[in-house]
Amino acid sequence: MDLKQYVTTVENWPKEGISFKDITTIMDNGPAYKYATDQIVTYAKELGAEIIVGPEARGFIIGCPVAYALEIGFAPVRKPGKLPREVVSADYGLEYGKDTLTMHKDAIKPGQKVLICDDLLATGGTVEATVRLVEQLGGQVVGCAFIIELTELNGRAKLGDLNVKTLIEY
Ligand code: PRP
Repeated sequence: MDLKQYVTTVENWPKEGISFKDITTIMDNGPAYKYATDQIVTYAKELGAEIIVGPEARGFIIGCPVAYALEIGFAPVRKPGKLPREVVSADYGLEYGKDTLTMHKDAIKPGQKVLICDDLLATGGTVEATVRLVEQLGGQVVGCAFIIELTELNGRAKLGDLNVKTLIEY
């Protein structure tokens, strides 16, 4: 399936000069959503992933059906103040300033094989902070899967030798 035809490009959103890649038109199409999920499920099986980790909010849309299909767990990565129990935190840089991501301290078991899932790899800041969270918890990141990669932003450079799979490139 040519998944790219289901992505909608929205020019000048959320601000002038940005060409936004809208994946909701993959999600609202049953066969396209299943196809995208199945690609990542196959990748997760190859890597022997034992748990899926996904950053809010769109990482949930990608990661949860993969976890369901594999009958493994899903651990959410959230912005500060959203998780009710003890957390670990990781800061990451934005164009102006910084943001923080958190995970529950007991979300990952030491040595557990983790696949990180998200919709988009852009600058790589989100996934790089997520890798640090998993590693703080003693997890082993075996791979990172995305629907879309914006290659010009070179997010892969932040991921070193990590195994990365993307379904669509721009
Ligand atoms: C978007 C996207 C990725 C991240 C990618 O999330 O869903 O998580 O940005 O960008 P990066 O590679 O430059 O870090 P956003 O922060 O907009 O949050 P949302 O999913 O809650 O809208």
